[in-house]
Amino acid sequence: MRGSFISFEGGEGAGKSTQIRSLADRLTSAGFDVVLTREPGGSPGAETIRELLVNGEADRWSSVTETLLMYAARRDHLERVIRPALDRGAIVLCDRFSDSTRAYQGAGGDAPASLIAALEDHVLAGSIPDLTLVFDIPAAVGLERAANRGGAARFESKGLDFHERLRAGFLTIAQREPTRCVVIDAADTPQAVFDSVWDAVSTRFDL
Ligand code: TMP
Repeated sequence: MRGSFISFEGGEGAGKSTQIRSLADRLTSAGFDVVLTREPGGSPGAETIRELLVNGEADRWSSVTETLLMYAARRDHLERVIRPALDRGAIVLCDRFSDSTRAYQGAGGDAPASLIAALEDHVLAGSIPDLTLVFDIPAAVGLERAANRGGAARFESKGLDFHERLRAGFLTIAQREPTRCVVIDAADTPQAVFDSVWDAVSTRFDL
C-alpha cells in the first residue's frame, strides 16, 4: 500500500514548521506511521548540500546553480527517505518540496521555468505530493517574524521585492493546481491556522 505525501510550502516566517509538528503529533496520536522531514535536507547527503545553500552571502549562487543544488539534494532525499517511507505506507510530511524551487529560484529568481519543469520530470519522476498546503502571509509580515526567530538567513536577506515575487509565485501554483494545493491563511492565530490545516488534511484523506 502506497502512503500519502503532504508538503508544506510558503515564504519565510509563515509558521510552517510549527504547524507541521502539530500535524505530525496529531497523526501519530491517531496511530499513523508518520515521517516528518524537510527540504533542502532530510537525508544525510541532502543535509550536507543544505549547508551550502542556506549559509553565506545572498548572491553566493545564481538561481540556476541553486536549482541544481536543490535538485541534487531532493533526489537523494527522495531515494533514501521519501520513497521508502511511501512504499511502506507511511504518511510523509515534508517541510518544503518542489514548489519552493518554482517559487524561490523561478518566480523570485531567474531560473527558467523550462529547466525547473525538466528537472521535475526527470528527477521527481512522478513523486509529487498528494496534497500541498501553501501557507500565505504578506511578505513583510513573514520577514519580520523570521528575523525575530533567527536561523538560516541567506534567503531572508534577499530583499522585499524578491519575497513578494515568490509569494505571488506560490499563489500562482495553487491557482493552477487546485486539486493538489490548498492555500492556508497563515496570518491568523496558530490555533486557527491549525484548524485550517486539519480541515484540509482530514477532508483530503477522509480521516
Ligand atoms: P527553511 O528555512 O524553510 O528550512 O528553508 C531553507 C531555505 O531554503 C528557505 O529560505 C527557502 C529555501 N529554499 C529554496 O530556495 N528552494 C527550495 O527548493 C527549497 C526546498 C528551499
